[in-house]
Amino acid sequence: MATTLKINGTSHQVDLPDDVPLLWVLRDEVGLTGTKFGCGVAACGACTVHIDGEAVRSCQVTLSDVWGDVTTIEGVGTPDTMASIQQAWVDHQVAQCGYCQSGQIMQAAALLAENPTPTDIEIDEAMQGNLCRCGTYPRIRTAIHDAAAKLKEA
Ligand code: FES
Ligand code: FES
Repeated sequence: MATTLKINGTSHQVDLPDDVPLLWVLRDEVGLTGTKFGCGVAACGACTVHIDGEAVRSCQVTLSDVWGDVTTIEGVGTPDTMASIQQAWVDHQVAQCGYCQSGQIMQAAALLAENPTPTDIEIDEAMQGNLCRCGTYPRIRTAIHDAAAKLKEA
């Protein structure tokens, strides 16, 4: 069934079965390949995107269940917030292989939008579903604190 999705502020007409996961709509239909496939069962967080600002696992949301505007790593944040988060990630050289990092950044962006000054415990709780096989967790936590400080300045 043809559906219109708003993704990163642009409307896209999608003509696919209702049960196709949003992840594959984004990657294969719309060509936004920054969102990654890791497990397909909501266990890794690599596919994290926002729907109406809420961090969701796009491998588990079917096309017919998309309830609002979708934001991906290609469109997250205002220029200020994105610059702050990306710059923090660069400053702390968070990424190793990088595969999990778009999901990590999407989860972190949702956390900072809801809680601009998270504690270590709050960061760990919010990020616990985003796995990193390279073990970048300490740098992710540091980068989130730094991004929070940068956003406060901005
Ligand atoms: S691919 Fe969706 S949570 Fe792992
Ligand atoms: S940076 Fe390699 S899996 Fe996270």
